[in-house]
Amino acid sequence: MLYGGQTARFLLWEHRMDLAALRRNYESIGQSHVFRFWDQLSPPSQQKLAAQLEAYDPAFLKQVINEYVVNKPRIALPAKIEPVDAYPRTPQTPEQKKLYADAEQRGLQLLDQGKVAAFLVAGGQGTRLGYDGPKGEFPVTPIRNKPLFQVFAEQLIAWSRISGRTIPWYIMTSDANDLRTRTFFGQHDFFGLNPADVFFFQQGMMPAFSMDGKLLLGEKDSLALSPDGHGGSLRALFKSGALADMRKRGIEHLSYFQVDNPIVHCIDPLFLGLHDLTGSEMSSKTISKAHALEKVGNFCVGDGVLQVIEYSDLSDDLARQTNPDGSLRFNAGSIAIHALRVSFIERLNEGSSLKLPWHRAEKKVPYMDEAGNTVRPDKPNAVKLEQFVFDAIPLARNAIVYTTDRAEEFSPVKNAEGADSPPTCRRDQIRRAARWLSEAGVEVPWTGDEPDCTLEISPLFAPTAFELKRKQLPARIAAGSTACFE
Ligand code: UD1
Repeated sequence: MLYGGQTARFLLWEHRMDLAALRRNYESIGQSHVFRFWDQLSPPSQQKLAAQLEAYDPAFLKQVINEYVVNKPRIALPAKIEPVDAYPRTPQTPEQKKLYADAEQRGLQLLDQGKVAAFLVAGGQGTRLGYDGPKGEFPVTPIRNKPLFQVFAEQLIAWSRISGRTIPWYIMTSDANDLRTRTFFGQHDFFGLNPADVFFFQQGMMPAFSMDGKLLLGEKDSLALSPDGHGGSLRALFKSGALADMRKRGIEHLSYFQVDNPIVHCIDPLFLGLHDLTGSEMSSKTISKAHALEKVGNFCVGDGVLQVIEYSDLSDDLARQTNPDGSLRFNAGSIAIHALRVSFIERLNEGSSLKLPWHRAEKKVPYMDEAGNTVRPDKPNAVKLEQFVFDAIPLARNAIVYTTDRAEEFSPVKNAEGADSPPTCRRDQIRRAARWLSEAGVEVPWTGDEPDCTLEISPLFAPTAFELKRKQLPARIAAGSTACFE
């Protein structure tokens, strides 16, 4: 697997034999065309291409081409698919009340003991939003227009203050956005974090293939490469030395979240405590789906094993099934918030490779044709392969799912307009702030379901509704006004 910054182990033009071996390897799997422009390349370009080609095991490429590219893998859905029995948002029975109280204490204790780190996956390309750059730079808060990265950073600072212990932050980037991400943090003084506690690392890259299984060249000196999916994070954490760094720091659990959701609770003591007390190796949060066919993954129990079935793989019939009370039978949507044990990720990396399946997607990928011209296709011409982090759930011991509330914790910025767009996310941030303030006893003006004011609560002021209640707050917010709590 190719990781950013990787260079050839040796200088090929000084070692003709090694080049010959590399060529033979690629010829043996029917991919000799990747050397088509070799003789036109400068030595640095030759070195670049050689480093890319060396990074892949030809046997691995042959296998994935056969299994996932030229042959479409049959999605083997479990024979028996049942709904998941998720922990409810609030405890329902006396036993659960005790468990949740213990879990919250346990979560706070893990933080006090410095055993928790935050883990952000931010290597994606964010093409749907149409933002040219790392998505974490995107300005998202309603008044201060803070970028997503800042919102997360401020939450971690707030929780570090509460627990009195630093919460290290591991951030996965990709070759496409690594430099810009690091530069952005540098330009903003790491948003108040200590740079020594922010660990950037790059995920692996996978080549794109033509529909008939040929590696595509993006340039004369480069394969057409793209990030290997957020599942690749579980391998990259190991390869980058991030796991070793965690061990050195005594980190036992990772709080995993995606870059696109500013209202995520980057740290949630109750969730972390439940995860720890139940002995779960990988825990997940779920919300009720907005409607049967909402485009989120579905937590299900398939042939007895907890797993996520992507919306595209769950048949409409199953997705539409209802319970006797009319509620959706498969209602547990995945919002890609997890807690992971460090020891679990270490275990996954034992042996030769991470045993997660690859997911195939047909995409439009620009490529270099035989004559050396760049072709920009107007319809899908290539297969990209990605691994998904939730495919690790079936491999985890005692995996649990905990229910949270959409309005409290999920409003991603995915699309330029419509659902999950900057306007809906801004609205949801204001609504949540209005609710937190109301719960804290502040009189908030509402017009119907919408607050009649613009609000922003900095995580540094209060990262949760509970913390907000401990602050000095005004008695009321005037209708039509703008109020920022920071
Ligand atoms: C994802 C989930 C979906 C879930 C939804 C919740 C998948 C396939 N689906 O959908 O089940 O309901 O989020 O918001 O993941 N990323 C990387 N490297 C990559 C690819 C992605 O770091 O190679 C990161 C992105 O930067 C982002 C996150 O993973 O932080 C999600 O990626 P995205 O492709 O936007 O997922 P969705 O299709 O929105």
